[in-house]
Amino acid sequence: MLKPEWNDTVSIGMQCRKPPRWRDGKLGLPVSEAVKMFPELAEYTDERGRLDLSSREARIIYNRAVTRALFGLEVDYHPNGLVTTPVSRYLFLKTFLRGGERVLEIGTGHTAMLALLAWKFFNCDVTATEVEGGFFEYAKKNIERNCAGIRLIKSDGGIVRGVVPEGEKFDVIFSAPPYYERPTRGVLTEREGVGGGRYGEAFSVRLIREARDYLRPKGKVALFLPDKKPLIWVITEKGRELGYTVRDVRFRVGTRWRHSLILGS
Ligand SMILES: C[S@@+](CC[C@H](N)C(=O)[O-])C[C@H]1O[C@@H](n2cnc3c(N)ncnc32)[C@H](O)[C@@H]1O
Repeated sequence: MLKPEWNDTVSIGMQCRKPPRWRDGKLGLPVSEAVKMFPELAEYTDERGRLDLSSREARIIYNRAVTRALFGLEVDYHPNGLVTTPVSRYLFLKTFLRGGERVLEIGTGHTAMLALLAWKFFNCDVTATEVEGGFFEYAKKNIERNCAGIRLIKSDGGIVRGVVPEGEKFDVIFSAPPYYERPTRGVLTEREGVGGGRYGEAFSVRLIREARDYLRPKGKVALFLPDKKPLIWVITEKGRELGYTVRDVRFRVGTRWRHSLILGS
């Protein structure tokens, strides 16, 4: 059973709450429990109950179960979108949110997962953008079905400037930016995946440059990045040139390492 921990949280700022943990104390969900929630998932398990992770459909259903069981959120995934994992997104937010901040997410994607988690678990005042029409519609529905007070803005290709009204200021601007150098074979759409530049950094560099005019004093930018040294290095260097202080927080999700690159102004 999930341990009811909704009231045990109260961290700095007294405005955050923790998701319930599985009985082993970890932030995860056994496949057998996910199957109870979504019986159609059984089709993708073997005789030992292991999930066929090569199946996109199986990963979507499993992540919907995790999102519901751990975070109490109902999220639909676009059939062609990135299969966003909720636990990695929650751990990322924990690296820089304290609760109650005014935040802006660039590129919330079809699930709006980061925006929903920031709203629900960190009590943030959230504005989120998305450029891709189909993803924008999914994000809007996911926000509505969770009755979340999140403002969603459709980007026309801009990142911050020209998208967010001038004069608006945020405590944090965050993003899981596209970071590949070139289009990938497989499931990611070009806009989801391609950051541009030599190491995939171009999107992030443009974001941190534009963000400067939209940050409150002591505001910060946080980027969710893969474990890719040249990419982290080049964004860090550019950030310092722009006058940010840069902190790289590495965290593990399952077998993978992820980075939260936090740029302070
Ligand atoms: C790597 S995905 C991340 C999606 C989601 N936030 C997540 O955590 O999985 C990047 C997202 O940014 C969107 N995007 C790309 N360029 C954008 C822009 N200029 N403005 C807003 N969103 C953009 C893509 O369509 C995609 O949904």
